[in-house]
Amino acid sequence: MQNPVLSQQQNQEKQLVAAAALRWVQDGMQVGLGSGSTAAYFIFFLGEAVRAGKLRVEAVATSLVSENLARQAGIPLFEPRKGTRLDLTVDGADELDAELRLIKGGGGALLREKILATASRRVLILADSSKVVPQLGRFPLPLEVVPFALPWVLDTLEKLQANPILRSDRQNTNEAARTDQENLLVDCHFVQLPDPAQLARQLEAIPGVVAHGLFLGLAHTALVAQGEQVLVYKPGEAPRSIAEFIELP
Ligand code: 5RP
Repeated sequence: MQNPVLSQQQNQEKQLVAAAALRWVQDGMQVGLGSGSTAAYFIFFLGEAVRAGKLRVEAVATSLVSENLARQAGIPLFEPRKGTRLDLTVDGADELDAELRLIKGGGGALLREKILATASRRVLILADSSKVVPQLGRFPLPLEVVPFALPWVLDTLEKLQANPILRSDRQNTNEAARTDQENLLVDCHFVQLPDPAQLARQLEAIPGVVAHGLFLGLAHTALVAQGEQVLVYKPGEAPRSIAEFIELP
């Protein structure tokens, strides 16, 4: 079950937080399933618990890849309806700061990830130790862009000094990467990202940008692995060991 692209420590840390996240899942919950390697470990562990009859849940996934993983793991999937509020979404992140502001979308699933995070009562983020930063901005900020709008989106991004780069498909690098919605991905390389909220507003004002990877005020809790320890992060609070919690925050 190891992801061969990651270091052994990263793999171990991702598995550690993914297993710990099961404590947040209660019987009968409707759960949002994130995307990426850490979320994949969570889907695997959740599937084990479901198949063993320890948990009954139904889920909706943030990407077609995660949807397939959930199916293989034996997690029942459901079709969201008007009025659906998920009890919990569990997802990874590319970066997080002490306020639990996030950069997401490294795997290209940012639009559905934001939709499910917004439709959830609680959002739990899982991260290995490499993801915590003092200030967001080291990781390129992904945007999902409607293909028709690309030239004008790139012009506007250049004015914002975003140093935008159209993401290539991993398998066929001559082709542009496509999202599950068949849109394009643009990675922005800002030199600095001092005011994420202002930048989010600027990006949301660009016609054709369907989603940006800044997740502000959406995450309630993060589990971050530091070696063999799991730390619980809440926005603006000092991280505490998971061992301190009887009631889960
Ligand atoms: C996908 C994401 C992922 O959550 C993010 O890229 C983290 O991935 P990983 O768990 O593989 O480090 O935002 O769009």
